Amino acid sequence: MYKILLKQDLVPNIHLFKIEAPVVAKKARPGQFVVIRIDEKGERIPLTIADWDGAEGSITVVFMEVGTTTHKLASLGSGDSIADFIGPLGLPTHIEKFGTVVCVAGGFAVATIMPIARAMREEGNKVISILGARNKDLLFWEDELRSVSDQIIVTTDDGSYARKGLVTEPLKELLESDEGIDRVIAIGPSIMMKFCAKTTEPFGVKTIVSLNPIMVDGTGMCGCCRVSVDGVTKFTCVDGPDFDGHQVDWDLLFARQRTYLEEEKRSLELWQSQCGDPS
Ligand SMILES: Cc1cc2nc3c(=O)[nH]c(=O)nc-3n(C[C@H](O)[C@H](O)[C@H](O)COP(=O)(O)OP(=O)(O)OC[C@H]3O[C@@H](n4cnc5c(N)ncnc54)[C@H](O)[C@@H]3O)c2cc1C
Ligand code: FES
Repeated sequence: MYKILLKQDLVPNIHLFKIEAPVVAKKARPGQFVVIRIDEKGERIPLTIADWDGAEGSITVVFMEVGTTTHKLASLGSGDSIADFIGPLGLPTHIEKFGTVVCVAGGFAVATIMPIARAMREEGNKVISILGARNKDLLFWEDELRSVSDQIIVTTDDGSYARKGLVTEPLKELLESDEGIDRVIAIGPSIMMKFCAKTTEPFGVKTIVSLNPIMVDGTGMCGCCRVSVDGVTKFTCVDGPDFDGHQVDWDLLFARQRTYLEEEKRSLELWQSQCGDPS
């Protein structure tokens, strides 16, 4: 069993768990993920490693409540345990001195991009971060991201905080400026990653995205996480999750992500009716 050492509610439906997992913490690298299972009847879900502490033997994950498993997870607290915690999985993000790197994070992905931005800066890159959320209430870790960036631009879709608009707008301005952008890392909802890649494509700036298809085993055996990149089938869990955003078949990814929408909806309704969860 893996003990939850700390739970923090970052915004109403996004939570942070620090979990005791010394073996995983020893090997974690930026961009990798874990697969967790709450109990022996639970489904396996992947979550990105937001931080780790080898000395303490802990891994931090940040997750958004979207369906049954993430709602169940959110009902746990400090001192509770989860049954399985497998990782680190996936290839780490490629870190190198590129020059100027723009890190674009949408929603809860600020937690995912933090270790990447930190590692890029430690490698000597100038890091410009763009952090976007639908509204002010869904924004968190602005100061944390600022602390690992040379510059940060914050956007909200509805203008309730900072700059009104989508992350692609300041991204395009940076690409048009004299800044000289050498690489873009975009992580967030798939639609956001697709449009970041579409924005950078005309400028020829390599853009890395972290794909999030449905996964089961997370170790390359089931084929569930297959995506098409440059016309070649790849398994996100072992060949990714990072890929060149200009080469991803986004329509295939969107279609595969929607495969079980009806079952997921029914599952959440059933769970909420059984446990009385009003959300
Ligand atoms: C490599 C990777 C890293 C991820 N990191 C994070 C993270 O750090 N924080 C976070 O909040 N979410 C992350 N996700 C997404 C997270 O795994 C899903 O939100 C979660 O599995 C939803 O499960 P559910 O039962 O709550 O929702 P469901 O109602 O079952 O599903 C809601 C939606 O989540 C997706 N999903 C469902 N089951 C899975 C699954 N087994 N694997 C992947 N996606 C699934 C589907 O698109 C689905 O439509 C990551 C996904 C991947 C592939
Ligand atoms: S999750 Fe099974 S092959 Fe990737």
